[in-house]
Amino acid sequence: MRSCKLPSGASMPVFGLGTWRMGESARARAAELDALRYGLDLGVPMIDTAEMYGEGVAEEIVGEAIRGRNQRPFLVSKVYPHNASRKGTIAACERSLKRLGVERIDLYLLHWRGGTPLGETVEAFMTLRDAGKIGDFGVSNFDTDDMEELAGVDHGLTGSNQVLYCLSRRGPEFDLLPWLQERSIPLMAYSPLDQGRLLRNAALKDLAREAGCTPAQLALAWLLAKPGVVAIPKSSTRARVKENVEALSVTITPALAAALDKAFPPPRRKQSLEML
Ligand SMILES: NC(=O)c1ccc[n+]([C@@H]2O[C@H](COP(=O)([O-])OP(=O)(O)OC[C@H]3O[C@@H](n4cnc5c(N)ncnc54)[C@H](OP(=O)(O)O)[C@@H]3O)[C@@H](O)[C@H]2O)c1
Repeated sequence: MRSCKLPSGASMPVFGLGTWRMGESARARAAELDALRYGLDLGVPMIDTAEMYGEGVAEEIVGEAIRGRNQRPFLVSKVYPHNASRKGTIAACERSLKRLGVERIDLYLLHWRGGTPLGETVEAFMTLRDAGKIGDFGVSNFDTDDMEELAGVDHGLTGSNQVLYCLSRRGPEFDLLPWLQERSIPLMAYSPLDQGRLLRNAALKDLAREAGCTPAQLALAWLLAKPGVVAIPKSSTRARVKENVEALSVTITPALAAALDKAFPPPRRKQSLEML
């Protein structure tokens, strides 16, 4: 599986499994666990989760999915902004590590901006990094101005910014994505299928049919064709997990890229970062 480099020099896979909404329904738990295990069996090398998802239950499901495997995937988790103080970040990370059943989270993100000064959260991240409890740190839902501010306190070490980015929400392309690309900071595209809404788009369906793939595969392949962009679709269904993984072998030709630009025009001016 292709990977990209974080500013620290560490590698991060360009494709992972999302886990939002997992753990929220006890009835769905078995299917969610099965889908994650199946994705790992197919070779997906990364899982994205957060302490927020199911208030910790998603991390527990991830922990169960990776337990006993020869190779554990690259793990991404996130701290709630209201926990992101110097002490709170460290305590939240310890709880996440326990739920995940691992000694290290590979990439630990501030889920969105809250009231804590950024420098304080970065200090906590550095402490966790020095203690080997996280590999890299980063942020989520940060627009370009937030990234500029972060750059003043992050010692050049921010690993990634995870934001809402997909064919139907191309706002980040105007300035945020170029800003990140210039600094070799990968953009993790969350809700890459716009939570399934994108797949009902008639133009996407037509183009996918012509390209010999499914709408989900086309939407994911379009993201994965961009340098420094990582996609983390979520599915609790085996067949869809497989379908999404197979997006990695779909090629976006220049003609296909142009047709997608026509159906989903790129931004012509700055749009504030959207958030789900
Ligand atoms: N940092 C943040 O603030 C933030 C915010 C949102 C999401 N995220 C992360 O990004 C991940 C992905 O985003 P998301 O879960 O919001 O949305 P998404 O991955 O765009 O879409 C997930 C939805 O699409 C369906 N789906 C998945 N693959 C499909 C396919 N091939 N065909 C048809 N339907 C398909 C899923 O249903 P089934 O499960 O039934 O297949 C689910 O309802 C999250 O799970 C989470 O890890 C982060």
